[in-house]
Amino acid sequence: MPVTDIDPVTVHPNPAGVKRLAVLTSGGDAPGMNAAIRAVVRTATHQGIEVVGVRRGFSGLHRGNMAIIGARDVANTIQRGGTILLTARSHTWRTPEGRAKGAEYLREWGVDGLIVIGGDGSFHGGYYLQQEHGIPVIGVPGTIDNDLYGTDHTIGYFTAVETALDAVDKLRDTGASHERIFVIEVMGRHAGHIALEVAVAGGAEEVFIPEDPRPVDGVVATVQESLAKGKASSIIIVAEGFPGGAQGVADAIEAGTGLETRVSILGHIQRGGTPVSSDRVLASRLGEAAVYALMDGMRGVMVGRMNGEISYTPLEETWEKRKDVSRDLYRCAKTLSV
Ligand code: F6P
Repeated sequence: MPVTDIDPVTVHPNPAGVKRLAVLTSGGDAPGMNAAIRAVVRTATHQGIEVVGVRRGFSGLHRGNMAIIGARDVANTIQRGGTILLTARSHTWRTPEGRAKGAEYLREWGVDGLIVIGGDGSFHGGYYLQQEHGIPVIGVPGTIDNDLYGTDHTIGYFTAVETALDAVDKLRDTGASHERIFVIEVMGRHAGHIALEVAVAGGAEEVFIPEDPRPVDGVVATVQESLAKGKASSIIIVAEGFPGGAQGVADAIEAGTGLETRVSILGHIQRGGTPVSSDRVLASRLGEAAVYALMDGMRGVMVGRMNGEISYTPLEETWEKRKDVSRDLYRCAKTLSV
């Protein structure tokens, strides 16, 4: 169909009869969450559906911390990092009593479904709410870690990679000037997606990821070989979840070579900042798709994007099945460090 034939005000079928939905962000914030909230609110508004914004994730939900939000409330947010709805990691939500309280509030507010923007912990929270109280839940993948099965990328991942890469480039300047070895730790509690991407894009000599928890002794030979090849400085990337972290790798290098080594842990800086366009567009598409999924009567699924198409994956599969890192990228990182 030519683009000019697409009617921008098409009304989506609503067999589920959704009149009011709720949205929250939960777990670690990720750049692009605001773009996702905006997309949910504007798609719903466009379809004549009211939106209840829940503040502070599940922690706010079991306290009834919610208010109606409209299209103008999300103006000027697409470019902002963090989440305007605030977020939290809730312990009370892990109890059936906490979830029952939250379900009561959702019923009181006449909500026909809940959209949860977050990672696997947040999806667990949504899954149990639906199982125990029958409230339809749709997940939107929002985490910098990119560790959810059922979507090629998660909202926030692209921006986190850019932020980490910017830091690596800067550390390379000082590392080269001092002829030092820099061991840089990037986020990724259980996954090496950020580490791998940054290692290849940042031209690292070596990368350590939790998916391959090998002994660190080999790094001594890597550094010695680099020196022999005429490399005066080295960049080594370590994912947070690799056993021993960056410090463990640096200790092994110093003990094995006696060379001056510095550790830089990038930490939460990777979660902040203006979302890059890829995160904004992904968030916009998934926020829209989440509303349509609820209207179509779907429940207990995460909307994702795979090979450019919107996909739907049962919430429990997003954590039961493992999204592997790209083995090609891992190989490429090694090949290009010669
Ligand atoms: O959101 C994912 C993540 O950023 C992980 O990469 C990291 O391990 C964790 O969150 C940190 O969580 P917190 O902000 O609670 O310290």
